Amino acid sequence: MIVLKTAAELAALDRANHLVHEALTRVVAAAVPGVSTWELDALAEEHLGSRGGRPAFKGYRGYPATICTSVNDAIVHGIPSRSVKLLAGDVLSVDCGVVLDGFVGDAAVTVPIGDISPTARQLLQVTRECLERAVEVMRPGKRLGDVGHAVQAHAEAHGYAVVRDFCGHGIGRAMHEEPSVPNYGPPGRGPELRPGLVLAIEPMINLGKPGVIIDPDGWTARTEDGKLSAHFEYSVAVTDDGPWVLGVDGR
Ligand code: MF3
Ligand code: CO
Repeated sequence: MIVLKTAAELAALDRANHLVHEALTRVVAAAVPGVSTWELDALAEEHLGSRGGRPAFKGYRGYPATICTSVNDAIVHGIPSRSVKLLAGDVLSVDCGVVLDGFVGDAAVTVPIGDISPTARQLLQVTRECLERAVEVMRPGKRLGDVGHAVQAHAEAHGYAVVRDFCGHGIGRAMHEEPSVPNYGPPGRGPELRPGLVLAIEPMINLGKPGVIIDPDGWTARTEDGKLSAHFEYSVAVTDDGPWVLGVDGR
């Protein structure tokens, strides 16, 4: 069942997501060559806690950390580690979730570490655009399938592949609510988007083929072909005034 949120619930989700974006900003500022992903995790946990938040990922199905740090061919769910030190030329996806006053915030960005190749830069840019195009679809009268279609059309126009193994999701008091939000598929299908619907939209776009493998750690999802992948995520509400990127857009 898809649950629509009240104005008060949207305000709470906005606060939770604002805290996530603050934490992401701190992590991104600290993400330079030589820093370990474990140090970035500690920074995020400290920031969320300092504002009364609790990491949403930690303990979720046994996940051991506050953020996911996915480097280069890692797509999502990379576990922060003392032994993973960032290098100039890497691309790093950081995904962060919080529970604040009973509501979940969830967002992710992919950033360059030092100078990166033009190829990598374009992948990041286009993946960000995929998310922006999906956000623009979040209006009353559109359908769920229009969201995934927007992502797929833009990614494939650039010769990239959409990851099929993971999707976005509804979000509210639980991190994963209905509906599931694939980043692909035909337009004009699926449930109608209504004011109060909140979706975590998270395109995962590969430079090469769409295939995914999971590391022996049981979490880290990598590209099967070893090529780069990028990931951006916003939690977005449908309103009568258009899309509301929670935690980012002022309202
Ligand atoms: N943004 C991801 C998701 O929505 C992050 C979850 S990581 C996990 O599924 F460890 F909590 F699973
Ligand atoms: Co998510």
